[in-house]
Amino acid sequence: KPVLFSGMQPSSDSLQLGNYIGALTQWVNMQQSFDAFFCVVNLHAITVPQDPAELAARTRRTAAQYIAAGIDPERSTLFVQSQVSAHTELAWVLNTITGFGEASRMTQFKDKSQKHGADASSVGLFTYPILMAADILLYQTDIVPVGEDQRQHVELTRDLATRFNSRFGDTFVVPEAQIQKGTAKVYDLQNPEAKMSKSAESEAGLIKVLDPANVTRKKIMRAVTDADGEIRYDRENKPGVSNLLTIYSVLTGRMIESIEQEFEGRGYGDLKKALAEVVDETFTPIRERTEELLADPAELDRLLAKGADRANEVATATLDRVYDRIGFIR
Ligand code: TYM
Repeated sequence: KPVLFSGMQPSSDSLQLGNYIGALTQWVNMQQSFDAFFCVVNLHAITVPQDPAELAARTRRTAAQYIAAGIDPERSTLFVQSQVSAHTELAWVLNTITGFGEASRMTQFKDKSQKHGADASSVGLFTYPILMAADILLYQTDIVPVGEDQRQHVELTRDLATRFNSRFGDTFVVPEAQIQKGTAKVYDLQNPEAKMSKSAESEAGLIKVLDPANVTRKKIMRAVTDADGEIRYDRENKPGVSNLLTIYSVLTGRMIESIEQEFEGRGYGDLKKALAEVVDETFTPIRERTEELLADPAELDRLLAKGADRANEVATATLDRVYDRIGFIR
């Protein structure tokens, strides 16, 4: 089976709708056909300050949400990044073949460091994409299902794999990103020009998987639309309505055209009400299952330890080969 690798940061109490639509639903659909590795990337999370107790809780919450959304820990390898030390070890090696200018061109770093200022941004935030490359390359990954915002990082990963292979001999599979057209970017409900993100300044446009249904319903009912009144997909001129249509389409598995037809001549309020219902139907079982899983943290930790054992086996084999190639004696 081809290998799939992907991950999310445990940087919030709940995943958000963008994570769910842009990544998690793809993961669930793909896990049958791939040897899949799903990682909770806590090493990435500490590139910005984290409260230790919260980081621990959020790590379990993120893993629980993977399982609750349909990741099967018996079939796929589900693990926590810090439990597999090969990630940091390979990241160091990759750091040494990455150009400073090359790393400086990563747009996510530029955005985040501009927001916080150069001195408030850690060197870890700067080398973050190189750690991500290590995550992916350790497992000889073929496919990386992610949202649009990770495209450039997967491109860097490909460049580093190719560079290492040509310098030291064939070692890594060169991976490909899988970015679903149409759902690669879910937008903020209050600011449909910006991607939905847990680090947005206001939470008013952010839908969280674990929020109570009434909180989510209110946010959807208040979503920004436009004055034109027609329910029609037009990303350019009607970003708010188009975002609502996209979300509705993904969660129901229906084509946008069929939804436009259903709502022809009706108001935005009707679309929002219908959407709130679908989101509730999707997230309520996930929320309930997450709470069940979190009620038994020992069992959850045991599942994650088992995943880490499996991940360690594969990752260590790759790291051994890398160390041989670069001339590290043992
Ligand atoms: P993170 O934790 O920010 O997001 C997790 C996944 O959710 C996707 N995503 C979105 N997709 C569509 N619309 C949105 N508004 C939206 N917001 C987030 C992201 O694209 C991502 O797929 N660097 C990664 C984590 C990572 C990783 C990896 C991913 C570390 N190592 C190796 C893949 C492979 C990140 O910060 O994702």
